[in-house]
Amino acid sequence: MQKGEQLYEGKAKKVFLTENPDVLIVSYKDDATAFNGQKKGTIVGKGAINNRMTNHLFQIIEEEGVPTHYVQELNDRETAVRRVEIVPLEVIVRNIAAGSFSKRLGVPEGQELSEPTIEFSYKNDKLGDPLINSYFARALKLATPSEIETIKKYAFMVNDILKIEYLKAGLQLVDFKIEFGRFHGKIILADEISPDTCRLWDVESGEKMDKDRFRRDLGNVEEAYIEVARRMGITIGEE
Ligand code: TMP
Repeated sequence: MQKGEQLYEGKAKKVFLTENPDVLIVSYKDDATAFNGQKKGTIVGKGAINNRMTNHLFQIIEEEGVPTHYVQELNDRETAVRRVEIVPLEVIVRNIAAGSFSKRLGVPEGQELSEPTIEFSYKNDKLGDPLINSYFARALKLATPSEIETIKKYAFMVNDILKIEYLKAGLQLVDFKIEFGRFHGKIILADEISPDTCRLWDVESGEKMDKDRFRRDLGNVEEAYIEVARRMGITIGEE
């Protein structure tokens, strides 16, 4: 696989063209941002951990019947993925109240929800990714009605799969954010699933093991990412 010209650089990843117009290479950075880029930092080793963890989880998710953009892991930080047109929605699934849900609705962090919830944000940095609903998404033609139904179905399937995988590692899946893309007209899972995009609490102690350690200045950020990777059997440093 030939790494070509850089197509795009985001907050956490760079994207490169390849000789195959249907395939891109994503390269995960150690850069961390929060609050729409207002807080900036570095989490040493994060790029490799997020790359390997995403690939590990995407392969399981694919086996369970949700199509993904995963093609092939190239090295610690880089992966070949299907080139998609990203649906401009941040899809958030929650099992336990936390973060913006707790703040907006006055529900204490840690309160279990009686069933998983789903919400959409319009992926637009200038507007700060505002919360919308599926009617907004349809009216603004961000996605078709049938795409929205597929996204909802896949998002809850991903939740069921991730809950089990993280529980095996002694972690409770509080909530997560995923993104989808269109590949030759089909909706597939894209972007990443990592401690950057999930809230993961230790089953025993309740300790936060995810990017909230960076967002909230809780310390031991690198250690938490390494511990999550270790528990999931993800090894780093094997090119
Ligand atoms: P929230 O409670 O801040 O809305 O976050 C919900 C989940 O989504 C949490 O697991 C963190 C993740 N998330 C992202 O991955 N990217 C983002 O830009 C935001 C705001 C949240």
